[in-house]
Amino acid sequence: MLDTTQTNDSNQLPLFQLPPVAATVTFLPSGKTISVAVGTVLLEAIRQAKLPVAQSCGGFGICSWCKVRVMEGEENLSTPSQPEQRLMKRQSFKPNERASCQAEVLGDVAVTTTYW
Ligand code: FES
Repeated sequence: MLDTTQTNDSNQLPLFQLPPVAATVTFLPSGKTISVAVGTVLLEAIRQAKLPVAQSCGGFGICSWCKVRVMEGEENLSTPSQPEQRLMKRQSFKPNERASCQAEVLGDVAVTTTYW
């Protein structure tokens, strides 16, 4: 088995660090949290948390009903794809809003909607 805690003698830092495999998604205002695998689509994380989420396009980034507001960790979501960028422009998303069906969780994040 690979030992990732080995250090070199000069600076006592790990020789390498594996990327995180799990991230915490916090749902506000309740504060409910779940742990998901890195790369999980935010819409799927919402479903795993058994919270309601609107959608009508089946997660293809067309309807914008799955929009969430990112309260913390916006940098821990995937960069909006071109389809999501078009949707955000067409639907006049605010700067901290994302289509949950398009955004992948890459690290800890906190999100909310108007109906939670
Ligand atoms: S479910 Fe339609 S844009 Fe996300």
